[in-house]
Amino acid sequence: MEVMLRNMFQALGKSRSANRLAKKYGLRFGAARFVAGETIKQSIDAVRKLNDDGRMATLDHLGEFVFSEEEAKESAEMCIQTLDAIASSGINSNLSLKMTSLGLDISHELCVSNMKRILNRARMHNNFVRIDMEDYAHCQVSLDIYEELRKEYDNVGIVIQAYLYRTEQDIQNLNALGANLRLVKGAYKESPEVAFPEKKDVDENLKKIIRMHMMNGNYTAVASHDPAIIDFTKTFVQAEGISKDRFEFQMLYGICEDLQKQLVQEGYRIRIYVPYGVDWFGYFMRRLAERPANVWFVLKNMFK
Ligand code: FDA
Repeated sequence: MEVMLRNMFQALGKSRSANRLAKKYGLRFGAARFVAGETIKQSIDAVRKLNDDGRMATLDHLGEFVFSEEEAKESAEMCIQTLDAIASSGINSNLSLKMTSLGLDISHELCVSNMKRILNRARMHNNFVRIDMEDYAHCQVSLDIYEELRKEYDNVGIVIQAYLYRTEQDIQNLNALGANLRLVKGAYKESPEVAFPEKKDVDENLKKIIRMHMMNGNYTAVASHDPAIIDFTKTFVQAEGISKDRFEFQMLYGICEDLQKQLVQEGYRIRIYVPYGVDWFGYFMRRLAERPANVWFVLKNMFK
């Protein structure tokens, strides 16, 4: 049953017509728990609340299904407007983005040129941009673009997924770039040919790469709600004498709020991933797929 629900949510998240339909109806079915709002203003207000109790943020303007050069440019423009709004409002937030929304599937050149526009604006505001990692089909090309950009920009980081077999090698290669990485378990449905099918292997690999990247002396964002991963990180940094300004924890907006606040109280840096925008459906479906138990939460909201 759980596997069936997981597959269903993953398929719905990829469906263009379901996304189009959802857009018409606005944030519904409990999506507001995971998505900060549809406008920049709503997202800035949400970040202000997080900042008030010491949580930093990374804002993500949700945009999926970009098929034309024009749509990719519009999406880049939204990222630029988000960076401007962060600067003018004075909130503590950087930016996360997906390169498919900047034209990655259209052409390498278009995507790089949009990335450069965004990174130049971020540099102007002394801010940082994190490239989210998408499905396996986009992994190598994303890393290639990251490497190209990293030569010119020091305000850009990327995400590495522990469920992929290739990840340990990627961590070694990225060390040469002094990469600022967000390390995650991985959110997409991947084949056992490229990714560990068993959760316990993914968890072990995440611990392994956290250790490797930190021991290489690189800034690391440990992005997980899993108490075992968080405890592992705390114990490991203490044993190795790694200071609290060399890493941060990251969690998703609306998930494990108590744990987020507890980490602030313990003096750790914590950043919350705050998605916003009208294209919320795909993101919402990925969150449901991660935890099919959330389906009860959705059903409750449908009948409210
Ligand atoms: P795990 O799945 O084991 O969950 C541990 C506990 O966390 C659960 O028992 C539950 O209590 C809680 N939890 C987790 N997910 C939940 C949910 N959806 N709803 C409610 N509770 C939940 N992935 C990717 O492929 N590319 C990317 O760029 C990113 N970026 C990213 C940024 C940030 C800040 C985070 C926190 C995560 C990502 N991810 C991601 C998603 C990541 O790969 C992974 O799918 C989720 O974080 C869930 O895995 P956990 O490590 O939390 O552990």
